[in-house]
Amino acid sequence: MTFSQLSHLECGRCGAVHDSERPQNLCTKCSSPLLARYDLAAVRASVSPADIAQRTPDLWRYHELLPVRDPSAVTTLGEGMTPLLPMPRYGERIGLPRLLMKDEGLIPTGSFKARGAAVGVSRAAELGIKRLAMPTNGNAGAAWALYGARAGLAATVVMPVDAPEITRRECVASGTDLHLVDGLISDAGRIVGELVAASEGRVFDTSTLKEPYRIEGKKTMGIEIAEQLGWRTPDVILYPTGGGVGLIGIHKALNELRELGWISGPSPRLVAVQAEGCAPIVRAFERGEPESQFWADSRTVAFGINVPKPLGDFLILRALAETSGTAITVTDAELLAELREVAALEGAYVCPEGAAAFAAARKLRASGWIGADEEVVVLNTGAGIKYPQTVPVDAPILPVDGHLV
Ligand SMILES: Cc1ncc(COP(=O)(O)O)c(C=O)c1O
Ligand SMILES: [Zn+2]
Repeated sequence: MTFSQLSHLECGRCGAVHDSERPQNLCTKCSSPLLARYDLAAVRASVSPADIAQRTPDLWRYHELLPVRDPSAVTTLGEGMTPLLPMPRYGERIGLPRLLMKDEGLIPTGSFKARGAAVGVSRAAELGIKRLAMPTNGNAGAAWALYGARAGLAATVVMPVDAPEITRRECVASGTDLHLVDGLISDAGRIVGELVAASEGRVFDTSTLKEPYRIEGKKTMGIEIAEQLGWRTPDVILYPTGGGVGLIGIHKALNELRELGWISGPSPRLVAVQAEGCAPIVRAFERGEPESQFWADSRTVAFGINVPKPLGDFLILRALAETSGTAITVTDAELLAELREVAALEGAYVCPEGAAAFAAARKLRASGWIGADEEVVVLNTGAGIKYPQTVPVDAPILPVDGHLV
């Protein structure tokens, strides 16, 4: 049995074909992200949804559609198959009784970045890479640091000083070479780029979409949603969008499943949710432009979506157009209020990025863009407990002999 049916890499912009059996970064012709392509006829002939149902409940159950060739190269901490939970009370409150949450808080390292790290690190190790470097808004760096440690890879991570503090500690605990920058992820990206250029091939750049396999890990969110719904898709999927890898990945996954004949019918409408303080995709979408412009002075408490100019902007905008989707902003005040409402009504302590997607669902229902009877999936991309500052606590401190009555 062939573990992976990866066939080649294809440029997402110019379509140039690249060899998938050696380390690759951007397209050598046009400097755009490369996408993994599979021999889908071979997948169709060798495996069925019924076979997959018998496999271990992690993302490696889709291994034919993942790039790792040798099962012994898989580095796993048990990632994948996160719950797809009904949100009946909260859904009722915002007028969406068929609302579901895909909860990525329940995954190693506490965010969906574990998916990209598991697949990206496994493939990097399989291709002989020994040292990697990446800029991050926190969660991805933490995930790559930890999965890198498990695979025996050395990593350099550069993140803004304002990134969630716990993600620094995850990097330090895993022995990663960590650097903080008094700036944004784009500043961290420049610093990593210099290191990689000076390394003469010894340090591999794993920045968002600068290597082709992180997205393959993230696309499994889309495959899981389809499998968990009995190989069908919802009407709408909302995704908190920074670099947009998850959104592009879900779109890619659903296209692959449709080509396999495992799902049918129209695509879910994909929604890119951004913060009002950093909304390059929303602005480009509203102007009908194919690419975004750098968003100056970006800021939001939803730190993971503070990405002023995503490299894959054209792929995000294409996914929105192809699925009749949309792009929408929410304010920090809206998402912080939503975070508490979701916790109070459903007991789910979501991350601020996930809360942004819930706030967007509410707004799109109110505007009529989402109908009351539609089935809607919100991606909660991480665990709320990674962000202890989002909910202020003013509980009184009782003396040791204190009483409540
Ligand atoms: C919790 C969380 N949600 C969403 C995102 C945005 O992810 P993407 O870059 O795939 O858009 C991030 C990125 O750091 C994140 O940490
Ligand atoms: Zn190209």
